Amino acid sequence: MVKQLSDYPLIKHNTFGIEATAREFVEFGSEEELVAFLGDGFKGKALVIGGGSNLLFVNDFNGTVFHSAIKGMELLPCADDDILLRVGSGVNWDELVAYTVEQGWYGLENLSAIPGEVGASAVQNVGAYGVEAGELIEIVEAISIGTAEKRVFTHDECRFSYRYSIFKDEEKRKNIITHVTYRLKKSAPFKLSYGNLNEKVQELGGETLGNVRKAVCDIRESKLPNPYRIGSAGSFFMNPVVDSTVAAGLLERYPSMPQYPLPCGDVKLSAGWMIEQCGWKATPHEHVGVYSRQALVVVNLGGAKGQDVLDFAKDVVSSVKEKFGVVLSMEVNVIE
Ligand code: EPU
Repeated sequence: MVKQLSDYPLIKHNTFGIEATAREFVEFGSEEELVAFLGDGFKGKALVIGGGSNLLFVNDFNGTVFHSAIKGMELLPCADDDILLRVGSGVNWDELVAYTVEQGWYGLENLSAIPGEVGASAVQNVGAYGVEAGELIEIVEAISIGTAEKRVFTHDECRFSYRYSIFKDEEKRKNIITHVTYRLKKSAPFKLSYGNLNEKVQELGGETLGNVRKAVCDIRESKLPNPYRIGSAGSFFMNPVVDSTVAAGLLERYPSMPQYPLPCGDVKLSAGWMIEQCGWKATPHEHVGVYSRQALVVVNLGGAKGQDVLDFAKDVVSSVKEKFGVVLSMEVNVIE
């Protein structure tokens, strides 16, 4: 049965802990239920949410919020060395990662302990410790909001890149993702080259799926606030990418600036480092600040309204622009 509620409080559906309401909230447990609800297509104002770990509500949402409660996982037939796992969009992301690690399936372990749900992994192309979910996504199944028709997107059609997919671009807000199929491996080389991950894995006794998961969980716990205790949406900004000439100029002025050259020749900069250099760890606004151990994470210090967070974020962007000449883009999806 579709759950349909009016004037629904969204505080439990956004990890920032912002008080906002949805005029209507619709939760469905299967593709069939969703299609039946949409009828000939939904023409009103719609917003699809997952775990709410990347959302900032600035106002009440004067429309319909859709949330998938499609659970379950099934194995699809595929080549011997691979695992094709079709997962309901409402499955908790870290439950999926934990399950695949327990089964001895390789691929998702570096993405441990990320809040959120499976559907959003495809929209966001969530990434951490040298792996992006999109690398492992084979197929995304969705229902078109406007027509209620089924749509199937192949890996290539999703056009994944850093924190980007087609669902943030021309397919933005047009679909409700119902299932995501991941291609995992029965054996694989680990990816341990990011930061101190390898060191942590060796301290735990060496390379096993369980140790990689544990190391990632430990690193995240030491650097990032637990969104269920401190309101935040993880990284608030994206790491900016600049061309190599700009990067070289910045390195001359700031020799300790972390820089990550990309295969295309451009250079990814660390937004967290720049925000820290602008002094924001020491200068919060009244209800909003950055996390003491990771300046890329904007935190709700208690009682923040969405507008407070947005005003703070704008001040952060201005300061980074002024000091480094680099414009930060928000990773968080601002709902105004
Ligand atoms: N740094 C600072 N000060 C800070 C934060 C970072 O100096 O306050 C420096 C670090 O010392 C390091 C560099 O900046 O040299 C990069 O920091 P880190 O390894 O913590 O990663 P990040 O680039 O800040 C990205 C993702 C995170 C992900 C980590 C690990 C984005 C927007 N964020 O952060 O993703 O966990 O890498 O892969 O790409 C998220 O999306 O919510 C998220 C947490």
